[in-house]
Amino acid sequence: MSLLTPMPTGTDLRAEIDRLRKERNAVILAHYYQKPELQDLADFVGDSLELSRKAADTDAEVIAFCGVKFMAETAKILSPDKIVVLPDMEAGCSLEDSCPPEKFAAFRAQHPDHIALTYINCSTEVKALSDIIVTSSSAETILSQIPRDQPVIFGPDRHLGGYLNRKFDREMLLWPGVCIVHEAFSERELLKLKEQHPDAPVAAHPECPPHIVDHADIVGSTSAILQYAKTFAGDTLIVATEPHIIHQMQKALPHKTFIGAPGADGNCNCNICPYMALNNLEKLYLCLRDLTPRVEIEEGLRIKAKRSLDRMLDMASGTIGLGDLGRMGVPLP
Ligand code: 13P
Ligand code: SF4
Repeated sequence: MSLLTPMPTGTDLRAEIDRLRKERNAVILAHYYQKPELQDLADFVGDSLELSRKAADTDAEVIAFCGVKFMAETAKILSPDKIVVLPDMEAGCSLEDSCPPEKFAAFRAQHPDHIALTYINCSTEVKALSDIIVTSSSAETILSQIPRDQPVIFGPDRHLGGYLNRKFDREMLLWPGVCIVHEAFSERELLKLKEQHPDAPVAAHPECPPHIVDHADIVGSTSAILQYAKTFAGDTLIVATEPHIIHQMQKALPHKTFIGAPGADGNCNCNICPYMALNNLEKLYLCLRDLTPRVEIEEGLRIKAKRSLDRMLDMASGTIGLGDLGRMGVPLP
């Protein structure tokens, strides 16, 4: 039986969240894939890299993370003295699930001359087993700093890894994970939509499979897609990523039309991330009130995971390149 007090009926959730945010000295961070009401309440809305930077820099005592578990864990790794709460601890990610740490460790052991460049969408354990973390907005900057003759394992998203391999003419070994949301976009339905809107460009996230990315006019992270939406010259944009990001586009450009790319039957909700969708206003209120569910990470594991995340933050801002890591005495396998 839960020891937590249920929410009193008639609670004004928005007002209560605002009161608790001040009382707790909390910052509310939200990813672009969150429900509009959560995005609107957040102190900061961003992509995975921007949210990591915010989590590392905040003065707040509590971080309420409206996103998925690996994002809240990243916040805790970077800000261990803060209380980090996630409205729903079941908010996972298919990419994280695809990459159990023991299997990843065994794969690394089979390729001792490779470094592990790993997408942030993974567990803390996999981060601890990795050399450098990337997000979709930092992956290109970071990969371009890694010498061409350095063998690389890229996991867990094979579509992002494949996209980078094609763009940079690399042969990174790919872990076979996928995002179930981006995997669900249908090429046939996208082509139908393009026929109906022949002047509309297509913006796609690199987690999409190649048969979607190949039709895109711009491929980029959520923040890159949003930036494109704010600057493209036309009236209509087809958006091949989780459609909750369209909320920010509509707010910025209410007179333009943004159409989410469809899934298999053209009508399903399969382009909505079921993990992100677990968070809602009521759970945000409860986690701020009760300061639970809380992210806790064993200190030894956290320190190992922080090493690969710190490299990402440094390399994404161009502070150091891979060559400098050796000079700094950072052991890369
Ligand atoms: P970005 O916000 O880094 O583009 O990531 C998208 C994503 O899939 C988050 O789960
Ligand atoms: Fe994971 Fe895909 Fe959901 Fe992002 S959209 S959290 S990659 S399942």
